[in-house]
Amino acid sequence: MPNIPRDTGLDSTWAFLRDPYRFISTRSKFHQSPVFQTRLILQKTLCLTGAEAARLICDPDRFVRQNAAPKRLQKTLFGQDGVQGLDGDAHRHRKALFMGVLTPANVQELAELSEVRWREYARTWRPGESIVLYEIAREILCRTVCDWAGAPIAERDVQQWTQDLAALYEHAGAIGLQHWQARKARRRLEQWAAELVESTRAAPPTPEQSPLERIAHYKDQHGQPLDLHTASVELLNLLRPTVAVSVFITFAALALHKHPFCLRNLQSGDERDIGCFVQEVRRFYPFFPAISARVKEDFLWEGFSFGRGTLVLLDLYGTNHDSQLWEEADRFKPERFRSNSPSPYCFIPQGPGDPHVNHRCPGEGVAVALMSVAVRFLARSLQYEVPEQDLSITWDRLPALPRSHFVMRNARITM
Ligand code: HEM
Repeated sequence: MPNIPRDTGLDSTWAFLRDPYRFISTRSKFHQSPVFQTRLILQKTLCLTGAEAARLICDPDRFVRQNAAPKRLQKTLFGQDGVQGLDGDAHRHRKALFMGVLTPANVQELAELSEVRWREYARTWRPGESIVLYEIAREILCRTVCDWAGAPIAERDVQQWTQDLAALYEHAGAIGLQHWQARKARRRLEQWAAELVESTRAAPPTPEQSPLERIAHYKDQHGQPLDLHTASVELLNLLRPTVAVSVFITFAALALHKHPFCLRNLQSGDERDIGCFVQEVRRFYPFFPAISARVKEDFLWEGFSFGRGTLVLLDLYGTNHDSQLWEEADRFKPERFRSNSPSPYCFIPQGPGDPHVNHRCPGEGVAVALMSVAVRFLARSLQYEVPEQDLSITWDRLPALPRSHFVMRNARITM
């Protein structure tokens, strides 16, 4: 039986944090193996990359998610007791709640609300004014998703709630003060969300069944409602990642700027061109570097031995850039999505597999729809200048972003 190749050195946490997106693929190439062993936060960790590894991690007989995410991410990004850490029946049942809320019709409604907001904001921009796209997109998405979810926010709270929801994903991986700010933001948000769930439970149900109502009245596989804390975590599981789509929107603007040919194509092209462009932004640009799971029972894969309880990371960014799966993997090429829809184990910006069954993100339709609205708006309805600025990508931050957050000047609506 071959040994799993091992990193040298006591611990690789700093190396991971210095280059989280390329850590696994670079070392996997060095070891010439789709799996290698390292230590992260002093814990033995098996790192996996590629489509076969993505397929493997979706096998519920071999992996579980309970206790797979680091505590510091549970206390900030995910929250505790949410769908991310469930397995088996409990997971499938809770996941159906998300799939039921995120239907194509509901996603369409969310996308339409966002378009109205983009236009509302753009009408307030003055000649000569500079705006920071990432910050604007965060705020627009925060207002939009809260309205859509049935949890509208008062005007005076918009900035605070936007910052708090963004802090959950912007500072989740941070060390020191920013991490504590993210924990504080989570406490504030969970309290607000729990109060909303409580008042929703006390009120008569409406025929529309808002996402908030669906969560408030959800019953688990044993017919039990969620406790208030868990319900608040699940409501935030809709709001936080929707605000995070602002990261992809910012990368979409960067791609339009760097590839004028794509911009011209979108200005004159059809809806399919927008779809291909959005998919390529999700493949090409970094967001989550990896997902984690734990080995459920001892097993062999490709001759390598996986021991029960071992922590495993699957490389999302590296798999999306794997040259064995993607032609010219490191070129931005939207047309690659014209001819084929890639397998759910090759194209994994939001996780692998089937979202109904596996932990794959239930919000891909939301990300695509909100990005499409923003790209259509930027390409076809807005004129703007992109002044001199530092657009280099912050590869050592999670999530990475263009350093300037994409500044636009003299933006005005044209249609
Ligand atoms: C910004 C774009 C987004 C990215 C990059 C993203 C990425 C991810 C990733 C990598 C996972 C883990 C998949 C796995 O473990 O296999 C995930 C799970 C999840 N995402 Fe997203 N997501 C995004 C947007 C959304 C949206 C818009 C929503 C909801 C409106 C959402 C809700 C969730 C939930 C509830 C889970 C947990 C699913 C489960 O454990 O079964 N995400 N997402």
